[in-house]
Amino acid sequence: MSGTTTAGPMFSEERSGEVVAASFENTPDPRLKQVLTSLAHHLHAFVKDVELTEEEWETAVAFLTRTGQMCDDVRQEFILLSDVLGVSMLVETINHRTGGVSTESTVLGPFHMVESPPRAPGADIALASKGPPCLVTGRVTGPDGEPVPAALVDVWQANEEGFYDVQQPGVQPETNLRGLFTADDDGRFWFRSIVPRYYPIPDDGPVGELLAATGRHPNRPAHVHFIVTAAGYAPVTTHLFVEGSPYIDSDAVFGVKESLIREFPLVDDPERAARAGLANPFHTVHFDVTLQREPRSAP
Ligand code: BEZ
Ligand code: FE
Repeated sequence: MSGTTTAGPMFSEERSGEVVAASFENTPDPRLKQVLTSLAHHLHAFVKDVELTEEEWETAVAFLTRTGQMCDDVRQEFILLSDVLGVSMLVETINHRTGGVSTESTVLGPFHMVESPPRAPGADIALASKGPPCLVTGRVTGPDGEPVPAALVDVWQANEEGFYDVQQPGVQPETNLRGLFTADDDGRFWFRSIVPRYYPIPDDGPVGELLAATGRHPNRPAHVHFIVTAAGYAPVTTHLFVEGSPYIDSDAVFGVKESLIREFPLVDDPERAARAGLANPFHTVHFDVTLQREPRSAP
């Protein structure tokens, strides 16, 4: 029969996805087979949908080549591409469903490059930053509201100009605005810092070109990063977002979730400021984190 061999249908515009998918039929790893089969169908449907031209195909190949060439030990342009396409957030969200109970997760980002230094409760992580002072408090609990003593709370943030310490070596001290805190017996943690500022993701490479070509800005709204870990519980990688920050409704990497936005009210209370070791007036924010039990330790 025309267009058919004993091995199956031959390649044609109509049947291209099906034919390429069938070429993976003997893949021994069932998951790899599933992923590649689906990819073949979706990729071919996409090319047909837009009727990709040869020039566009060449442009895409050149773009991906430059994306790879931009990658080194400290710059991961492919992850950044995944971020601005919303794929990082989707993978994160699919793999960390909260069941409506635990704290929602968001992207890790590229700036957790150095280990956060262990710091004492209440320590000031702003080693040389002149931004608006801020008192951060919170409590780590499990799904039934039980405190999680000794939970590790790893935090990092940009400064008042929107830069991380690793972006300004020699300007900011090492480990500025980073800290690893241990929650007390009641799961509580607190530290002093400054209110972070919004900032642009690295946009001097192919990802920046894509944003510019599509009229998109490169900015992320102001946030503090958190990774909270505790024995017997699933870790959570998340952010605390500053309510009212510019770009809160248009994060370049789609990282904002409503449940992670908090007010940072200004408090004018000289006595409280003195007790906390902060200049008056100061901002406050409270961020409770709920962890899910690790599946193996679930009741
Ligand atoms: C960040 O929040 O540090 C970040 C996340 C994704 C891309 C770039 C930066
Ligand atoms: Fe960030």
